[in-house]
Formats: sequence, C-alpha cells, structure tokens
Amino acid sequence: MDGALNRLYSWRYNPLYHSGALTVALMIILLVTGTYLLFFYRIGSPYDSVVRLQNQVWLGRWIRSLHRFASDAAVVAIAIHAVRIFAQRRAWGPRALAWLSGLALLGLTLVCGWTGYVMVWDIQGLVLAREGARFLDALPFFSEPIARAFVGEREIPSAFFFLNLFLHVALPLGMGVALWIHVARIARPALLPPKKLAWGVTGLLILISVIWPVAMAPEADLFHLPRTAPYDWFYSFWLPVTALMPPWAAWIGVTVLTALASAIPWWTRPKIEAVASRVETRLCDGCRQCYLDCPYEAIAMIPMEGSRKGIVAEVEPSLCVSCGICSGSCAPMGVGPPGRTGRDQLGEVRSFIKENELGERDVVVVACGHGIGLLGQAGMPDDVPLYSVECIGSMHTSILEFLVRSGVGGVLIASCPPRDCWHREGPHWLEERLYNDREAELKSRVDRRRVRVSFLGGGDAWLFKKELESYRRDIGAIEGIEAEKDVALDLDCRTDVSAEEVGR
Ligand code: HEM
Ligand code: SF4
Ligand code: SF4
Repeated sequence: MDGALNRLYSWRYNPLYHSGALTVALMIILLVTGTYLLFFYRIGSPYDSVVRLQNQVWLGRWIRSLHRFASDAAVVAIAIHAVRIFAQRRAWGPRALAWLSGLALLGLTLVCGWTGYVMVWDIQGLVLAREGARFLDALPFFSEPIARAFVGEREIPSAFFFLNLFLHVALPLGMGVALWIHVARIARPALLPPKKLAWGVTGLLILISVIWPVAMAPEADLFHLPRTAPYDWFYSFWLPVTALMPPWAAWIGVTVLTALASAIPWWTRPKIEAVASRVETRLCDGCRQCYLDCPYEAIAMIPMEGSRKGIVAEVEPSLCVSCGICSGSCAPMGVGPPGRTGRDQLGEVRSFIKENELGERDVVVVACGHGIGLLGQAGMPDDVPLYSVECIGSMHTSILEFLVRSGVGGVLIASCPPRDCWHREGPHWLEERLYNDREAELKSRVDRRRVRVSFLGGGDAWLFKKELESYRRDIGAIEGIEAEKDVALDLDCRTDVSAEEVGR
C-alpha cells in the first residue's frame, strides 16, 4: 500500500506515512467545527436544535457534516497509525508508554464519538443510548437501572443530555492530556502533517460535506423500537456483535481485547535483545551532538569524572531503543550500540571493499535494512553490491568517504522516506550530515556527485530500479575517478586516542 500511494502522492505527501499527525490535524478540525455546533445545540430540545442546524444551508449543514466526516476519518487514521506501528514492531521498550497512551486515545475517541451520536437524539442515538445503559447496568454502581430512563415510563431528564454533552466536551480535553503523554518520550514529535497534505485533506472533507451532507434520521421515540436505524461503521462497528451478547460478556470481551492489545509492547520485543548504546568516555569530547540527535532523548550530558574537566555523554539504557543514530552523530566515533559504532562500521566497510573488488564504474547501494535493504542482494543487479545498514541515520558518514576514496564509482543511498523511518529521524539527520554540515558531516573533500540519496520505501522496488539505472549512467559519465591506496580518515576531535587504547 505504501508503494501504491507513493506512486500517487510521492513519499512527501503519502498519507499513510503521516497517519499520527493527520489524526492531530483532524482533531483540530473537530475542535473548530464542534465549537460552532455547540453555539446552536440545546439540551432542552436536542433533536430540534440539530434540525435547525441542518436547515442552515450556507453554514450549519456542511459544518455538521464536516464534523461527522472528520471524526470518521480520525478513526481510519488512528487505525492505520496503530497497525503501522504494530507491523513495524515499534511498540516495545521506551515506546510502550506511547503504545499504551495510544490505546487510551483510541478508547477516548470511540467513547467521544458514541456521545456525539447520542447528542443528535435520532433513532441511532436512541439505539446507542440504550446499548450504553445496558452495559452500565451490568456494573454494580447504580441503585436504579439506567435503562429504565429509555422505556418511556417518564420523560428523559435533561440531566441526561447535559451529562452526555459534558462528556462529549470533556473527553477531548482528556485526549489532549493523553496526547501529551503519548509523545512525552519522543524528541521533536511531528505533530502536524505537511501543509499541502493537511489542506488537501481539509479541502476534500469540506467538498464531500458540501456535495453530500449527512441527512437527519427520524427523531428518537421511546414508544417505538426502530426496525432499522442508520448505522455508523466507524463508531458503532461493534454494535451488531454486542447486541447479540449479554452485557457481562461484552465487558469481558472488551477487557480481554484491551489486555491483549496492552501486552503487544512486551510480545513484540526483539527476539535478540536490543542492547543499549554505550559511550566510550575517553573518546567523548562533550560536543553534545549525540544528545541533540537521539530521537528518544536517551542521552544526557553529565560532568566528567576524575581529572578531566567538561561534560560527557551518558546513555540511559531504559530509554534507548538501540537505533544506532548516535553512532552516526559522533565524529570521534565514541558512542553507539556495541558492535555498531562508527569504528565497527569502518571495520565492516573495509572487509566489504576487499570482498567485492570494486572499481571506478561500480555503484554500491547503501540501503536501510527496513526499506530497500529488504530486497537483499538477490534484488540487486549482479554487478551491484548491497551494503545494508540498520538505519540510514546510524551510518557514519566516514563509511561514504571510505567507499568513495577507495575508488568506488558512486554510492546510491536508498534511505526510507523521512516520515517512514523506523527510528523516526534517520533520513533527516542523513541529509543534514551530507548537505548541511551537521556533525558528523560528510567532509567537503568528498565529491558529492559520487554520493546520491534516494528516498524509497520497501514497496518502491520499481522506482529503485529506475533511480539505480539513471545513477549508473551519471557515474559512467564522470571522468577521472581515482582510487586511493590506503585511505586514512581523520577522526575529528580527539585523534590522540587510538582504537587500541580503548580496548578494541
Ligand atoms: C488520537 C489518536 C492518536 C494520535 C493523535 C497519535 C499521534 C501520534 C504522533 C503525532 C506521534 C509521533 C510521531 C513521530 O513524530 O514519530 C505518535 C507516535 C506513536 N504512536 Fe500515536 N497517535 C494516536 C493513537 C495511537 C494508537 C491507537 C497507538 C497504538 C495503540 C499509537 C501508538 C504510537 C506509538 C507506539 C508511537 C511512537 C512511535 C515511535 O516512536 O516509533 N498511537 N502518535
Ligand atoms: S557525539 Fe560523541 S563526542 Fe559528542 S557528546 Fe556524543 S559521544 Fe561525546
Ligand atoms: S541508540 Fe543512540 S540514538 Fe538510538 S535511542 Fe539509543 S542512545 Fe538514542
């Protein structure tokens, strides 16, 4: 699906990549349209007040429809966001808080939608109110069964509509708090989608609301059980199932589902334990770059111990997801998950060059193992070796320099699209290090024609082939590519500390 939508919208505006941020944008639409609707809603005559809104042809009708469609779209966006995170196994470790608060957000959204439908007080509202009363009466909290309010014995007290309205307004406030917790452990959360996508979605929803406004169902009537009632697929999908169940069974079902969903962060932990990053304090010169780049705020800068003055990086293992992005941040290669620091990567790339005997017309593909790297060597043309990395942001730029100066014609970096990074910010830091001199930057002496970045998702094999062919042609046209025999890289900062000294 990613691949198909990338063809349609390009990776920059692929809505699947922005599902979390799109939900926030939809919540903003709901807040604005809901505020307008609130001015006209009357708890004393709920149905009539909605009819009056519906009769405002120029504003009320489409604003009401926009409120409805945006809430439906929010459920779809949340579902895509959650399934995506699950499929990418991104819920474990420090992200468990985001997962659990996400479940709370989903629950709050569904209950909020429920109260919204009851507010209209049409036959659908009545069905939902009755179902809610049935569930609540199964709990041992109420002295009198709530369901009796809906049997027509007496008029429905306006306190019911007040309470329902109160919940409909208060729940979004709770969602604001839950969202704050949701992104609390994430550095620089992307809360809004790109402007064009946000306005595109808003425009599309307005257009549908104007062309196809929602209709009014008949008013709720306590003396007539509706034979059929309109049915909302997004908020009442559970109704056909629960209607057949005794309420206690529905409660057990919801509890079991919630428990299963809450266990996902622990179920989906990587089988091989992801080892937290470590700092080699003797190499660290306190530049703060890893601290600034870590997508999960797992690094703190602390005072140095002993005779050395200044600050040094320290990783908090319980917050680290072992993404390795800090390995790419550190010029002196003093930090990273064990076996994946810049120094380890240099060792690997040396063997890679020896194994592949590469020359000035050859192109190497450096790809993220979660994206194009999934194709494996079998997915590459025979004469194009693949160098796969855990995350493109974890690759130290010295790897690129080493490949280029060793005489490889060109390096095509197949990075996941920025909003599809499994470790959130890898592609962004890659671009900054290559083109904007962010530490650890690709040195200016490296011929930029011989390094190219393409943003490609795992489903973009077709585009990858095109990009590779065009890059090979470009490399073929470059004259005078020469290999250096013994490439010496200067590891910036404290070059006086050798690998042997730090016990490698
Ligand atoms: C109202 C509903 C929701 C909203 C508005 C929302 C929004 C967001 C946003 C903006 C991010 C940050 C994305 C980034 O910058 O990388 C995020 C991350 C996340 N969300 Fe949600 N989300 C919602 C529901 C959910 C649900 C239902 C789940 C799963 C049960 C979930 C799981 C996560 C996880 C695990 C992350 C962290 C991902 C990572 O760090 O790799 N979210 N969400
Ligand atoms: S990037 Fe390297 S040198 Fe800079 S603070 Fe982090 S560990 Fe220390
Ligand atoms: S590996 Fe490095 S960048 Fe990634 S979470 Fe751990 S400390 Fe942060």
